[in-house]
Amino acid sequence: MRRKGEDCKAVGSPVVRAHALNLKDFSGKRMRLLGIETSCDETAAAIVERDASGRGTILSNIVRSQYAEHAPYGGVVPELAARAHVSHLDHIIARAATEAGVALASVDGVAATAGPGLIGGVLVGLTTAKALAAALGKPLVAVNHLEAHALTARLTDGLSFPYLLLLVSGGHSQFVLVRGVGDYERWGTTIDDALGEAFDKVAKLLGLGNPGGPEVERQALLGDPTRFRFPRPLLKEDRLDFSFSGLKTAVRLAAEQIAPLAPQDVADICAGFQLAVTEVVTTRAAAALGRFCAELPDAPPVLVVAGGVAANQAIGGGLRHTAERMGARLVVPPIPLCTDNGVMVAWAGAERLALGDSDDFAAAAKARWPLDSADMALGSGLGHGD
Ligand code: KG4
Ligand code: ZN
Repeated sequence: MRRKGEDCKAVGSPVVRAHALNLKDFSGKRMRLLGIETSCDETAAAIVERDASGRGTILSNIVRSQYAEHAPYGGVVPELAARAHVSHLDHIIARAATEAGVALASVDGVAATAGPGLIGGVLVGLTTAKALAAALGKPLVAVNHLEAHALTARLTDGLSFPYLLLLVSGGHSQFVLVRGVGDYERWGTTIDDALGEAFDKVAKLLGLGNPGGPEVERQALLGDPTRFRFPRPLLKEDRLDFSFSGLKTAVRLAAEQIAPLAPQDVADICAGFQLAVTEVVTTRAAAALGRFCAELPDAPPVLVVAGGVAANQAIGGGLRHTAERMGARLVVPPIPLCTDNGVMVAWAGAERLALGDSDDFAAAAKARWPLDSADMALGSGLGHGD
């Protein structure tokens, strides 16, 4: 588990052969996948069943959040995250098997997030998955974390392709057209901070706890959203991209101007910030749905929201209203499946395996791994994987 990624190549060829021999034809068959997620600060494992018709059932879902480990630092410390994954992952996998009532030896494949994410954590999960797959003689699926978020709604709501995904988490803020498994087109992303990251930074500068999103939302409920008029970045532009760092700076300047802050000041700033981002996200969502309808006139318009920020009631309410206005269906999977979890990884693994797609043991852990090739051209510096 503690070996470096390159070491995997050393055991590559004989193991890859064994794995190839065990890759059954899964199309039209029931299968059970173990999914492992370690790309940020959740250590998670789950077992999911996909039946012959493509319907999924969650057999277990174990998530251990590392809030306590990172709390003193006001953010996720990558080295600490990787160490915590090492300490807890084996136990969490064992619990996932026990709660599912499934012996690990009887799973049909092992899926793990292989990126994008904090590289130390990704290495822990992926290397563990390789070891398990090799020991059990089962196929390995190295899953893109963004693809796992993108496909979750097919498990929870039985969605068919295509649909529009809005992924808003601590590391990502993007619109993705999901045409099929492995067929994605990113329509917009953040050019600086992710939305969850902006919530977390605003919380930190106001002295609120971490993760900041829920704290800011709680404070916003007590505040007057009209007292501070914060900027709505990029709102007047046609593009479907986001920018949140200027907004965060505006919040900091406003807070500095009236410091020391009374509790009502904090609540009013949070309410003003949340109103600004809700307006940005809903306006962008309307534009993205407009593009969906124009480019795919025969497809019923569906907007899927995923990522931790999907838990925000103000943003969720705004998106519901936007979808209604546009004649679109809004799908928000249950919040525990919107935040990072092993179920989405197992499900993405099952979707790929059902198409006869798996990975060999040379599969690399990747800090950055955009979903479509157009993303590559947008370059680096956009958070962990955007
Ligand atoms: O998807 P997630 O669990 O982890 C990744 O970042 O991948 O998302 C966590 C992010 C954090 O930035 C957190 O502050 C934000 O989602 N978040 C929220 C809320 N709950 C979580 N942001 C706004 N409002 C919330 N209620
Ligand atoms: Zn995520």
